[in-house]
Amino acid sequence: MSLNMLLPLLLGLLLLAACDNRSSVVDGSSANATSRPAAPDADTGDVEWRQHGLNAAETRFSPLRDINSDNIATLGLDWHFDYPTARGMEATPLIVDGVIYTTASWSMVFAHDARSGELLWLHDPQVPREWAVHLCCDVVNRGVAYADGKIVSGTLDGRLIALDADSGKLLWEVQTTDRNRPYSITGAPRIVKGRVIIGNGGSELGVRGYVSAYKLDSGDMAWRFYTVPGNPEDGFENQAMEVAAETWKGGPWWEIGGGGTVWDSMAYDPELDLLYIGVGNGAPWNAKIRSPGGGDNLYLSSIIALDPDDGSYVWHYQTTPGDSWDYTATQHMILADLDINGRQRKVIMQAPKNGFFYVLDRRTGELLSAEPYAGVTWATHIDLDTGRPVESAGARYEKNSTGLHLPGPIGAHNWHPMSYNPDTGLVYIPKQDVPYVFANDTEFAYRPGYWNTGTDALPAALPDDPETKAAVLDLVKGAIVAWDPVAAAPRWEIQHAGPWNGGVLSTAGNLLFQGNSGGHFAAYRADNGAELWRFDAQTGVMAAPVTYRLDGIQYVAVVAGWGGALALVGGEALKAGPIPNRSRLLVFRLGADKQLPTQTTTPLVLDPPELTASAAELLDGQRNYLTFCVFCHGDGAVSGGATPDLRAMTAETHQRWDSIVRGGSHWQNGMVGFAGVLDQQQSENIRQYVIERARITLDSN
Ligand code: HEC
Repeated sequence: MSLNMLLPLLLGLLLLAACDNRSSVVDGSSANATSRPAAPDADTGDVEWRQHGLNAAETRFSPLRDINSDNIATLGLDWHFDYPTARGMEATPLIVDGVIYTTASWSMVFAHDARSGELLWLHDPQVPREWAVHLCCDVVNRGVAYADGKIVSGTLDGRLIALDADSGKLLWEVQTTDRNRPYSITGAPRIVKGRVIIGNGGSELGVRGYVSAYKLDSGDMAWRFYTVPGNPEDGFENQAMEVAAETWKGGPWWEIGGGGTVWDSMAYDPELDLLYIGVGNGAPWNAKIRSPGGGDNLYLSSIIALDPDDGSYVWHYQTTPGDSWDYTATQHMILADLDINGRQRKVIMQAPKNGFFYVLDRRTGELLSAEPYAGVTWATHIDLDTGRPVESAGARYEKNSTGLHLPGPIGAHNWHPMSYNPDTGLVYIPKQDVPYVFANDTEFAYRPGYWNTGTDALPAALPDDPETKAAVLDLVKGAIVAWDPVAAAPRWEIQHAGPWNGGVLSTAGNLLFQGNSGGHFAAYRADNGAELWRFDAQTGVMAAPVTYRLDGIQYVAVVAGWGGALALVGGEALKAGPIPNRSRLLVFRLGADKQLPTQTTTPLVLDPPELTASAAELLDGQRNYLTFCVFCHGDGAVSGGATPDLRAMTAETHQRWDSIVRGGSHWQNGMVGFAGVLDQQQSENIRQYVIERARITLDSN
């Protein structure tokens, strides 16, 4: 599609967005504020953060209020620790018995004294660096689980490891995946009734999703639940798979795998004894290629309730039937008891990628409400009677319609944790609007181990025409939405410079903490969103903060370090601008005033060589760039800061291009060689495309 064809589509979308005003919000100042925070806690006992989401319900709301909206001005840095890695940091630390356990990139695990920051031990699982090519979204890890003196953690190459919490000594290690498929683990395990529950990722690279349970004491597998059916000729593992297979038509989806990976969220209700898992998108994204005969494709994009004892199916709710847009339902899930229409309900809440905020009865999966919390073009609404979305005309690009869609595959909300604050009654959602042009890939061919979306990436690249580009970028936004789950409506928003901001924490001190893509860690009033405090972290902060109290001192801790999916692929859509990765743990308390070392950032110098390629060679270069490189080096070769900006390569790097790109000479740092899929001419065409991007940047400045 040519660029001037994009403009009318874009205007059409803007109109659509204007009509769909359901997610407009009221001004923060008129929010029905709860009053001032209560006086500091009279109780001064230790309060830790011993589970990923703070508790089994995963509320991420701390009852601590020693630090509160009245005294936050004196919050300062108490200590920090710089990690030896320089890629995306997404972990929620745990604080157990005075020790803070966290992970850095490449699945490394660190233990520090939670008062002083002293490093107690570290475990490097030695992930082969070439595994990076099997990852959609950076070499990240979202944290560990703790129980019975053991720290359990997943690795990028699919291992689950148990370490002695005191010494860091390896107790057991199991391979949870088939190493011949591009599986990965980035999510935090959960421990339920003596079993470690772990999922995996890799859908668009070609895998079949599942979640497994391993015995905490031995590492032996207890059960496994697949989320999508395998080849029917091999028989089904259970009745849930037999039911699911009815909704997949005209295979062979099992060759690519079908997707449905459980790569992040889980929650557990001890009273109902139900384990909830969030299930991901289809592989490939394009439903027509995956299941040519149509169908819902269970259990893609679903929340599933399982029996934690044997992993058997209890109920499911599918947020996006027949998903074609990478609309995962792997986003954070929170359990709460809410008064809805005069009835006390046990609910589970999720803001999946598809832009609707869902409240379900968590005993049965009954849908209670689903309203848009962000810009949505793919569906007009969710029908509460049928529980199904009513899709917009033209949403199904696989039928050869095309246009700009919201949300894009990065989601209106990604993995960044939310928080449910019972004092304000609000769920805080780190939301974003990042549109995307989905287009049918009419020449799809399965490439094992590489990206297999079934969409044509060319129309999705940000156009060069200044007017169209400005109009697209105008749609890109990032915010915190304060969502009232009882009223099923937003109360207020905090606007950010751009998308891909951090996970959130709220506290009984009327505080809401969040880091952002602009390099700050900030605190807001939980009742109305007014900003109270900010700290320059010198790097983007994506991970969710935690808080704890030891010896009567309340601390706030956050893992900082720019990276992750949109930081790598976003290009100019990262409106806060490029920012370096500085991977560190930051810990704050009242009255502290330590400083981070001052940093200088070197500006990009663009000095590209001559462009010699023909238009056809440039197009070939762009296509292959979008197929193999964009996920790490950014749309239009514009880096978000966490990987090298290819436009700024030195003459020497241009010289060595082919040995880096095909030969893999930088593989130790996660830059694998592409000799298996690119010939020398194709590699050279990509280089020419990168030169063109540098020249266009110079010309537009
Ligand atoms: C899985 C992520 C990933 C993918 C995919 C990827 N790269 Fe890289 N690339 C990196 C990282 C990380 C570095 C930095 C390596 C280092 O620091 O030594 C890098 C470095 C480079 C460099 C050296 C840049 C410099 O200034 O030193 C070049 C050239 C390069 N990549 C080209 C490509 C091309 C072309 C593709 C697609 C065919 C590609 N890369 C795909 C992650 C990736």
